[in-house]
Amino acid sequence: MAVERTLSIIKPDAVKKQVIGQILSRFEKAGLKLAGLRMLELSEAQAKEFYAVHKERPFFSDLVTYMCDGSVVVSVLEGEDAVAAHRQLMGATDPKEAAPGTIRADFADDISANAVHGSDSLENAATEIAFFFPEL
Ligand code: CMP
Repeated sequence: MAVERTLSIIKPDAVKKQVIGQILSRFEKAGLKLAGLRMLELSEAQAKEFYAVHKERPFFSDLVTYMCDGSVVVSVLEGEDAVAAHRQLMGATDPKEAAPGTIRADFADDISANAVHGSDSLENAATEIAFFFPEL
């Protein structure tokens, strides 16, 4: 196993539910260290750029609107197999399919407001970390 870094976003629905602390606590309890942490509001241009890979998908416009509808908390998580470990903590993209005890099962209502985002590969993690934390 290797020490990796991955990007986490606590999305507007979870921020509004006041579960930032509970979610960050799950990362720390799982042994993931917070190497960077910031609360911000995404501009429309930032949301479009961040999710550019989805720009042809039918949900793209709604996704951008939702991600700009309030504050988000972005963080860099560091630890053994951080990309996979973080994805396991989050659970499936669709909360209806997320395993019990995962963040999405516990805090998300819907696939379009699914509480958290996490990098899906080490390569994308590097790109996503640089997007929010160019200094890291
Ligand atoms: P995320 O992991 O942030 O990556 C892209 C996001 O698009 C995803 O989580 C979902 O919140 C959102 N999304 C909305 N509708 C869909 C859908 N039908 N399929 C996949 N992702 C969707």
